[in-house]
Amino acid sequence: MRKPMVAGNWKMNGKSADNAALLEAVRGLGDECANVTVAVCPPFVYVPQARQALEGSGVAVGGQDCSDNDSGAFTGEVAAPMLADVGCEYVILGHSERRTLFGESDTQVAAKYRAAQRAGLKPILCVGETLEEREQDVTEEVVGRQLDAVIDAAGVASLEGAVIAYEPVWAIGTGRTATPEQAQTVHRFIRERVAAHDAGVAEGLVLLYGGSVKPDNAGELFGCDDIDGGLIGGASLKADAFGDICRAAERSRD
Ligand code: PGA
Repeated sequence: MRKPMVAGNWKMNGKSADNAALLEAVRGLGDECANVTVAVCPPFVYVPQARQALEGSGVAVGGQDCSDNDSGAFTGEVAAPMLADVGCEYVILGHSERRTLFGESDTQVAAKYRAAQRAGLKPILCVGETLEEREQDVTEEVVGRQLDAVIDAAGVASLEGAVIAYEPVWAIGTGRTATPEQAQTVHRFIRERVAAHDAGVAEGLVLLYGGSVKPDNAGELFGCDDIDGGLIGGASLKADAFGDICRAAERSRD
């Protein structure tokens, strides 16, 4: 049985004093939702604050991106070994904001994926189509291509126990959530695509849905067969909402 997961993607939000209150509330979720992997991914500069506040709570910390290089003259970049060094367990890679606003290619994302694994981090690999692509009916083509880039570069074994987040770009921060059926269809597609290479790896994949997940839609989404939890943006900045979403994940395996 796969363990459900809820990860908060704070994006470029936060301030020490506000983070402290939020982290204090998140801390309690480690015990309260013991059957869920709960993680928060703050901006790099707040990773040590999050680590310290969550110490011993069972709540994991992740970065939001990493370089594909391990060290060197890359001004402004943060390397995967550095994230591991300051206590990150996870790193979000290939988020659509990185792909669209910062021009990250599938190949680059795959290189980052390899760098993260070299450093012992667990990547949360994001895939998803734009509205235009959905309307053109090429969702599976796009998601398949994003997935294949990683399989080609790192091999299917690199997906053993991996976390993949399906995030339709049109649902991110828009308040427009994919219906459970739409999300389940793509999640099923992802699992089948990986199963074509290795059925065991596919079965163990933790597949998160992301895109306007809120307390009032989380239960229905997490109830779908191939949806193992969520990657939460906006709602992860509100203690009550994030807690309710984690509780929905905890109930989803009842
Ligand atoms: P959202 O963001 O929950 O604010 O839509 C999700 C994400 O981008 O990871």
